[in-house]
Amino acid sequence: MEVAEAVDLRRSIRRYQDKDVPDGMIKAILRAGHMAPSAGNLQGRDFVIVKDRRMRELICKAALGQSFIVEAPVCIVVCANMSRSSEKYGKRGELYAVQDASAAAMSMMLMAVDLGLGTCWVGAFNEQAISELLGIPQGVRPVMLMPLGFPDESPYAPPRLGEKLEHWEKW
Ligand SMILES: Cc1cc2nc3c(=O)[nH]c(=O)nc-3n(C[C@H](O)[C@H](O)[C@H](O)COP(=O)(O)O)c2cc1C
Repeated sequence: MEVAEAVDLRRSIRRYQDKDVPDGMIKAILRAGHMAPSAGNLQGRDFVIVKDRRMRELICKAALGQSFIVEAPVCIVVCANMSRSSEKYGKRGELYAVQDASAAAMSMMLMAVDLGLGTCWVGAFNEQAISELLGIPQGVRPVMLMPLGFPDESPYAPPRLGEKLEHWEKW
């Protein structure tokens, strides 16, 4: 699949088939995350891969009960490793780590499309609850939950603000 096609096809998927995702596909998606750019190539990001249904139920609870998190057979928790980036970049490293994690997340979502899988960027969750559930250490922040599975819907793209957001040469 061409990158341009994956960019257009990617949608937030909130309905998933009751079908497991092979580990090989999960690994390919993680590799896409590892290959994303990062500040100073420090890769200020980590990934927690959750397949266990009970844990996904608890994650769902910590994410305002967004039930598709349980429906999807996998949930990848993308984390910003502030400690790793701050060692070299100080306070600014905290922002770099969030960018490192976000860049990885986007590459992973596009790779998922290429593999015929669906994802959704879930940012609404109780950060402390997720950290406690998954044993995420201090200095590392979960920034997004990525439910992953075979889609059971093909939603249209919500409208974009498009050119209103473009400031050519100067704001
Ligand atoms: C930072 C961020 C947080 C989001 N949080 C949620 C969320 O908690 N739950 C959800 O269903 N979708 C969430 N979304 C997905 C957006 O609703 C979705 O990307 C947007 O409506 C555009 O639709 P599309 O992804 O299909 O293009 C989030 C997206 C981003 C980038």
